Amino acid sequence: MAYSFRSCAKINLGLRVVGKRPDGYHNLESVFQEISLCDEIECKRTSGEIKIQCDHPAVPLDEKNLCHKAFRIARDIGGLKEGIRIQIKKNIPVGAGLGGGSSNAAACLKAFNRMFDLGLSKGRLIRLAAQIGSDVPFFILGKTALIKGRGEVVLPIHFLTNYQVILVYPNFSISTASVFEKFEMNLTEYNSDDKFEAGISEIQNLDDLSDSIFNDLEKIVMDCHPVLKEIKQHLKRKGAQFVSLSGSGSVVFGLFNSSKKLEKIGQEFAKYGQVFFARPVF
Ligand code: C5P
Repeated sequence: MAYSFRSCAKINLGLRVVGKRPDGYHNLESVFQEISLCDEIECKRTSGEIKIQCDHPAVPLDEKNLCHKAFRIARDIGGLKEGIRIQIKKNIPVGAGLGGGSSNAAACLKAFNRMFDLGLSKGRLIRLAAQIGSDVPFFILGKTALIKGRGEVVLPIHFLTNYQVILVYPNFSISTASVFEKFEMNLTEYNSDDKFEAGISEIQNLDDLSDSIFNDLEKIVMDCHPVLKEIKQHLKRKGAQFVSLSGSGSVVFGLFNSSKKLEKIGQEFAKYGQVFFARPVF
C-alpha cells in the first residue's frame, strides 16, 4: 500500500540570531508560520534499500536527502528489515528559506511512525527531528510556533491568521551556512539582548509586524543580492503590509490583507523569477 501525504513550507515572521553555540550553530528566535505551499510525497514499503525519487534536479537522492536520514532513524528505532521508496513531487522552491527539505523529512518521519506502528509520541518525534536538521522539529507540529535554540524548542502560539502571502523566488538559491558565516563577520551591529518574545503577544494586526519583528539575516543577504531589495520595495509599493526575507533566503515574501486580489499584483513579479501565492496554515 502507498502512503500519500503533503508537506508544507514555512515562512519566518522575524528571525533573531541570539548567539553562537559551542556546537558551531546559532541560537535563534523566530516565529515560524506553516503556509499552504506544499510538496506531495508518496511512500511505499519495499524489500530493498532506501530509494528516493524526485522531479526536481537539485534535490539529492542519496543519504544527503533529509528523508533518507529520517528513514535511517525510523529503521534503527523500529529494528525494521524493510526498505522504502519515497517519491517527492516538489512545488516548494529549493534553497529558498522555506524549509522544503526539512518539511519533507518531518512529514516522512511522521508517516513512518504510522506505517510501521512505531508508537512515537509528538515529543519523541521532535527530539528525533532535531537529529535530522535545525528546521525539522518545527514541522512535526507545523502551524504557528515560536522557535528557540537551534530550532529544537518549538512553542506553539496563536498569532495572526487572516492574511495571504505572495512569495517571490528569484530563481537562485542561497546556502544557509554561507549566510551565517557572513553574519559573524558583521557582529559589530548586533545586540542579542533585544528579543521578540515579549513583543509578539502585543501584535494585533499586520501593520504591527514591522514595528516589532525583523530578520537579522536580511541586510547581509540583500547587500549581496540587490535584486531582493528591489523585490522588497516593489512588494511594499503594491500594498504589502509586511515584507521580509524568509530565513536565509532567497525568497522574499509579502503579507497582504485578505480582501486584496493578489493575482494581478503577482503578475508584476514574474519578471524577477517564480511567484507563489499561499495562506497561513493554522
Ligand atoms: O541545520 P541546517 O542544515 O539547516 O543548517 C545549515 C547551516 O546553517 C549549518 O551548517 C550552520 O552553519 C548554519 N546554522 C546555524 N545555526 C542554526 C541553523 C543553521 O549556524 N540555528
